[in-house]
Amino acid sequence: MKKTILTFVLLFISIILTACQFGNVGTDKVITVYTERHYDTDQLLYDRFTELTGIGVNLIRDDADKLITRMDNEGEDSPADILIIADAGRLHRAKEMDLFQSVTSDILSDNVPNQYKDPNNFWYGLTMRARVFVYHPERVNVSDLSTYEDLTDPKWEGRIITRTSTNIYNQSLMSSMIEIMGEEAARAWATGLVQNFARDPQGNDRDQAKAVVSGVADLAIMNTYYIGRMINSSDPYEVEVGETVRIFFPNQDTTGTHINVSGAGVAKHSKNVDEAIQLIEFLTSEEAQRSYADANFEYPINPAVEPHDLLKSWGSFKAQDIPLSKLGEHSVLAIIIMNEIGWK
Ligand SMILES: [Fe+2]
Repeated sequence: MKKTILTFVLLFISIILTACQFGNVGTDKVITVYTERHYDTDQLLYDRFTELTGIGVNLIRDDADKLITRMDNEGEDSPADILIIADAGRLHRAKEMDLFQSVTSDILSDNVPNQYKDPNNFWYGLTMRARVFVYHPERVNVSDLSTYEDLTDPKWEGRIITRTSTNIYNQSLMSSMIEIMGEEAARAWATGLVQNFARDPQGNDRDQAKAVVSGVADLAIMNTYYIGRMINSSDPYEVEVGETVRIFFPNQDTTGTHINVSGAGVAKHSKNVDEAIQLIEFLTSEEAQRSYADANFEYPINPAVEPHDLLKSWGSFKAQDIPLSKLGEHSVLAIIIMNEIGWK
């Protein structure tokens, strides 16, 4: 009798331990996602994925660079199955650090255009953003706006702002200019641009838009989604700034506007590769893309999915037609040039 009771107690303990281990009782498996995204609407998507597949999702949220360092330090013991971070330059760095593995699937091939993924399938884009001109409509005549190259013209002297060269968004912009113009022309471009800065680079993208509205400068180079975020901010001043400025997509008659992605890759040491691929497939699907992109006012990567109405109101645009992996490949040279020409 005592033995039977003991058996039942042990059985009960093992059931509890199993349930704790998997967190989500009722699901077969749980995968771990390292992500820098922190939007409430994302959780609904992960819940939906679990509902569809029975696979639970354990989210570890932190800054992109911290997650990259953490995965690197963890090595083979890393619990990460997927890493989700912004910027193709950063995704490329994670690939070079051997944090991803190459994966293929027919669904990912259908959902993610070639331009928006690693050429060797180490990472796939999930959302897209453009690095545009944000200008004050009372101080800039839209007919004076054309290209990134035109910003070196003396007519822009003391009128332009953007953040520092330590910021990966500007490093990727610089990389795109190297890819398109060649090293020497890109160096001359950056030199001319810096000469027209209204102040030493400082602050984040939102601070650039605020400085345009407060009169520090007339035009900022910044990412589209920050305007969406400011218009929908709980801070009335940010709403005012977002609604005052205008967006211009440069290089529409030439090489297109600089774009970038946030993306995902399957971790090199994932023990749940099939399930990890399934989640990336789901995040790029028509069902998930709209709300996944809308959470940060970004453009869906899946061409079958319409962007948010606010983004549609800015109009469609032609994007730079270069493989985004080039942004990572040129990033070291981009940083060297920016330092040499005095882009602070
Ligand atoms: Fe950002």
